[in-house]
Amino acid sequence: MSRDHERIRQVTERLAAAGVPSPRVDARLLVEHVVAVAGSCDGCGAALLDGLVSRRADREPLQLVLGRTWFRELELRCAPGVFIPRPETEIVAGVAIDEARRHGAAIVAEPCTGTGAIALSVAVEVSGARIVATDVDPRAVATARDNLGRVLAGEAGAPLVADQVEILDGDLLAPLAPELRGRIDVLVANPPYLPASDRGSWQPEVADHDPDRALVGGTDGHEVVERLLADATAWLRPGGLVVLEIDDRRAGDARAAATAVGLTAVDVVRDLTGADRAVVARRAR
Ligand SMILES: C[S@@+](CC[C@H](N)C(=O)[O-])C[C@H]1O[C@@H](n2cnc3c(N)ncnc32)[C@H](O)[C@@H]1O
Repeated sequence: MSRDHERIRQVTERLAAAGVPSPRVDARLLVEHVVAVAGSCDGCGAALLDGLVSRRADREPLQLVLGRTWFRELELRCAPGVFIPRPETEIVAGVAIDEARRHGAAIVAEPCTGTGAIALSVAVEVSGARIVATDVDPRAVATARDNLGRVLAGEAGAPLVADQVEILDGDLLAPLAPELRGRIDVLVANPPYLPASDRGSWQPEVADHDPDRALVGGTDGHEVVERLLADATAWLRPGGLVVLEIDDRRAGDARAAATAVGLTAVDVVRDLTGADRAVVARRAR
């Protein structure tokens, strides 16, 4: 067995003992990271690896320990206090990307941008799209702008985007220029959508590291989803599409809320696990 394999085995045991859900994958990624940064897991590399493994064993998310994550075509910086993008959101982004590609020069709005994962994916995957993203948390805005800078500099593993992405600080669509009202082709978001009563059931990685404001959508969880569906009727162009990630337990409520505000063609999209993951609807023509 090579020394790196032996290290991975040892780290796996340590992470498994700490209750980390995917100890072998995490062990491999941590060892690979140290080899890439320090050249090997010996000497300084051993001390570096030990520090990183301790953080992961304390249930700090792997993405924060590594300082990065992957989302669709992008490698993104992660920062403490900023929501870590999840794989299921790649499907949500994909629905918006497919819709935006059907338009030349689509205008796309993404409130609740976090690291900028959805907005930047639209930017690199849809040529000519103009994207305006917002977040109410200054740490998220700073991280999304950092990631935008890295994409523009060609450092994020995707082709250069024209400087057509704006990341604004503020509440949902309020920071957008008023002239965009009624002109947006696609409104996409992964808003906070969990009820406050879920807090006790979260794994330490979520409870101690994802900000509460990124997770909880008001007391019953549906407040921000409902505000965004109402906003869609004012900000989308006639025929424009809204795509919102939802709690799979609330798909019926999301459908009803979209219909109640007058949106049409209301549907629910499933993720790769088969869970109801997004509500989609159009502004009536
Ligand atoms: C679930 S996270 C999603 C982040 C990112 N879109 C993603 O999928 O990885 C929700 C984000 O919404 C932001 N947020 C919460 N309430 C907001 C509001 N009223 N206006 C703008 N952003 C808000 C949070 O700060 C957080 O970054």
